[in-house]
Amino acid sequence: MNKLVIGTQWGDEGKGKIVDILTQNADVVVRYQGGSNAGHTVCVQDKKFILHLIPSGILHDGKICVIGNGVVVDPVSFFAEKDTLEKLGIDIDGKLMISERAHIVMPYHKVIDQNQENKLGLKKIGTTGRGIGPCYVDKYERIGIRACELTKDDILREKIEANVERLKIVYEAHNLPMPDAESIFSEYREYGEKLKPYLTNTVFVLNKFFKDGKKFLFEGAQGSLLDVDFGTYPFVTSSNPTAGGVFTGTGLPYTSLNGVVGVMKAYTTRVGNGVFPTELLGDMGEVVRQKGAEFGATTGRPRRCGWLDLVVVKYAVMLSGINEIAITKLDVLDGLDEIKVCMGYEINGERIDYIPALLDDFSKCRPVYETFKGWDKTKGCSTFNQLPDNAKNYIRYIEDFLGVPVTIVSIGAKREETVIR
Ligand code: GDP
Ligand code: IMO
Ligand code: MG
Repeated sequence: MNKLVIGTQWGDEGKGKIVDILTQNADVVVRYQGGSNAGHTVCVQDKKFILHLIPSGILHDGKICVIGNGVVVDPVSFFAEKDTLEKLGIDIDGKLMISERAHIVMPYHKVIDQNQENKLGLKKIGTTGRGIGPCYVDKYERIGIRACELTKDDILREKIEANVERLKIVYEAHNLPMPDAESIFSEYREYGEKLKPYLTNTVFVLNKFFKDGKKFLFEGAQGSLLDVDFGTYPFVTSSNPTAGGVFTGTGLPYTSLNGVVGVMKAYTTRVGNGVFPTELLGDMGEVVRQKGAEFGATTGRPRRCGWLDLVVVKYAVMLSGINEIAITKLDVLDGLDEIKVCMGYEINGERIDYIPALLDDFSKCRPVYETFKGWDKTKGCSTFNQLPDNAKNYIRYIEDFLGVPVTIVSIGAKREETVIR
């Protein structure tokens, strides 16, 4: 079975933990989109790992990890992550490959990202500031710099000079000092040398693995509602976390995927701006934020918290053909008297069960809730049957609504705090 793990909400659903659990059944773990905007936390015993670019499978011995062509690679972030992992006892050498076709996040991408946001003021997207959007813009504009070009003096210099020249207008508009093409060239030429041992034609390597019958685990970053095509545009990221992204982001055929695990937090969070119908703005939101430690793994920003929105999750199930659900952070809801779940929206007196394309319409959607009785404690349970009855009811209702079985219930950040059904 080759499985994909994706987020069904607005990111931070606990994908890192679920990938870590499922890695034991895989030979190769592959990232296919996004970049170091991702922050995937995995807790192993007393150690906490936060993966940004490197697949979460790296924590297991004997697994191959691949950063596919669809990922945008920031060498600064990559080598910082490598160092952090080494300090925690994880060596990536010999285990990790990066696609030579992957686009490189350049320093000016980060400058543009952050300055565009500042200029937007209240209308800002709330990006991670990691230069992701501007890097994908260059890719589609066909002026981006790919990993394989970092070691080619003439190509690299010419591209950086042309890009810096193009940026003049943007830099002037933002009142920024112009970047120096030659110093960017020397810095990134050096990164090219340092990255060389990891670079390979992952398209062919992955297809060879596929022919040899190796088992894949694809690791999605961000979430379905942050997808540039299907999410809450423009408050989205600039790639396709949904299942379609796997094929364009790796070069593997559609037959390489046989199952999709949708990771769903037992409630909803969102970091960054954009409409969030079930958001809890008062004390309850703060209770969930504190109990769930809802602060961004990449930026440290407090995450906005709200009740579970099943319209959102059902949409994600449809978009990616999700055939199993992993519920995470169920323990965070322990001890509440009542728990609400959104099952539809009301807009202009009409009931709808989809997400309107027009943001203005989405902002008018009022959640229609079903209220569930809370439970005492899920923490410490090791089988589905041990879960409190009301927690089981909550899960069964969700399965019924989505038409998809819940196969994993996560009740804590650690590996062993997981119920597999
Ligand atoms: P990702 O981006 O989808 O991988 O998720 P993040 O790592 O950004 O955020 C999820 C956070 O919740 C991390 O700090 C995890 O360690 C933590 N976590 C994951 N599963 C559980 C769970 O079942 N219960 C609790 N309490 N924490 C969890
Ligand atoms: P993981 O993989 C949550 C959000 C940002 C912002 C929008 C665009 O950890 O789930 P970007 O920097 O991508 O241009 O920002 O997307 N965002 C995430 N939110 N989890 C993530 O990743 C995210 N990656 C980007 O907050 O709203
Ligand atoms: Mg995260």
